[in-house]
Amino acid sequence: MSANLSTIAYIGAIILFILSLGGLSTPVTARRGNLYGIIGMTLAVLASVFGPRVTLAGIPWIVGAMVVGGSIGLVAARRVQMTQMPELVALMHSLVGLAACLVGFASYIDTSIVFSGAEKAIHELEIYVGIYIGAVTFSGSVIAFGKLSGKIGGKPMLLPARHWLNLIGALLVIYSAWAFLQAKTPADGATALAVMTVIGLLFGIHMVMAIGGADMPVVVSMLNSYSGWAAAATGFMLSNDLLIVVGALVGSSGAILSYIMCRAMNRNFISVIAGGFGTAGGTVVAKADGQPAGEVIAISAVETAELLREAKNVIIVPGYGMAVAQAQHTVYEITRLLREKGVNVRFGIHPVAGRMPGHMNVLLAEAKVPYDIVMEMDELNGDFPGTDVSIVIGANDIVNPSAEDDPGSPIAGMPVLEVWKAKTSIVMKRSMASGYAGVDNPLFYKDNNRMLFGDAKKMLDEVLAALKA
Ligand code: TAP
Repeated sequence: MSANLSTIAYIGAIILFILSLGGLSTPVTARRGNLYGIIGMTLAVLASVFGPRVTLAGIPWIVGAMVVGGSIGLVAARRVQMTQMPELVALMHSLVGLAACLVGFASYIDTSIVFSGAEKAIHELEIYVGIYIGAVTFSGSVIAFGKLSGKIGGKPMLLPARHWLNLIGALLVIYSAWAFLQAKTPADGATALAVMTVIGLLFGIHMVMAIGGADMPVVVSMLNSYSGWAAAATGFMLSNDLLIVVGALVGSSGAILSYIMCRAMNRNFISVIAGGFGTAGGTVVAKADGQPAGEVIAISAVETAELLREAKNVIIVPGYGMAVAQAQHTVYEITRLLREKGVNVRFGIHPVAGRMPGHMNVLLAEAKVPYDIVMEMDELNGDFPGTDVSIVIGANDIVNPSAEDDPGSPIAGMPVLEVWKAKTSIVMKRSMASGYAGVDNPLFYKDNNRMLFGDAKKMLDEVLAALKA
């Protein structure tokens, strides 16, 4: 393929990626957006493999690597449960970071292209920055994978003098950059690179280990952004325009998502990075007389069905437990039945419900819940006082009133869905266990709240059967 044809293919791929991002912004156009992305990526891969920079002898190596990588990806994607998607995404981010590191070292060792003067300095700076971003992304994403999969505890690890440690690390990285650019021999340069890589890896580990459970959504989107910048840095090292543009698209959209997540949680980005949110185990719920309010009122599936039958307005708030139980299809069946009876049923989606951005929207779309009754938190939070029944399905942190009422709570200030303002709220979960942030939930003890204990899918099946009876 000639250089011109390859450039045209790259521009086509870039346009398709931009259209893809646009399409993915609403559920109605998401399928089309996904399709644009697939076509764009196919075009990009073909244009790269058959492009002017690949020799015939190199093609079997590339195809071999694609077969091995593609097969692993196919098996992993087929096996992964919907609830494990966030972990898979974190693992994918780590691979982008690793690739940036390896490409960086390969570019440094590669002597086939000789740079001199300012070009040499710019190329070396690209390598340095690329490897650093790659190292932070790689180790940070591996730790995020561990935290999301529960292999590493959610509690933040707060080292004494951690800000000083970060500062010393940053100074060492700057010093190594100077040593790298001044290096007289390749061995000296490689040593400076290796020192910086180790610090980058340690920094990634330290940064994510210090983040409390409740801040993980911001970290997930931040690592998403980092992986984009790591890809862009790889593009600079390889002088590949497509990789630079695509990396910048992912990097900037991830940064915007991090901003949205911060706003949704009423958090400041810098304090998220500084870590420690969600540190405490939560405050003990106490009544006015100082006694712990340990009493909850349980309800059965049949009683739940009766309450729903008499209701005019119902708001359903799904959370991570709905994903675990795979209860979305039964939720849809119940919604359909109630709507046929003239009940106004709507869904309230918290921006950080579940374990990844848009988690609940994906599940509800899969179950064919109409988009027009799926509302964002801000759109319907004021409607709870006029609601007869609010049903919380496997959600916990996102409906915790202590975020509003208790300034000492680790999640104080995070906007939540005010389900307790409905005439009756019903919480479906298996036990009294806390949610991801490890914080007690005073909602369970409120007078107008009922607990429907059990697996969400099983309990909703029983509610559906009772509604049909
Ligand atoms: P959580 O606060 O984690 O609560 C989920 C609840 O579901 C748990 O209390 C659990 O209680 C219940 N549950 C689990 N399996 C269940 C089953 N089979 N049937 C019924 N209930 C089940 O979830 P949330 O309210 O969706 O809040 C999300 C949390 O995750 C926030 O703290 C958020 O910061 C964090 N987070 C979010 C993201 C993104 S990007 N969305 C990423 C990382 C972390 P039982 O064990 O008693 O059943």
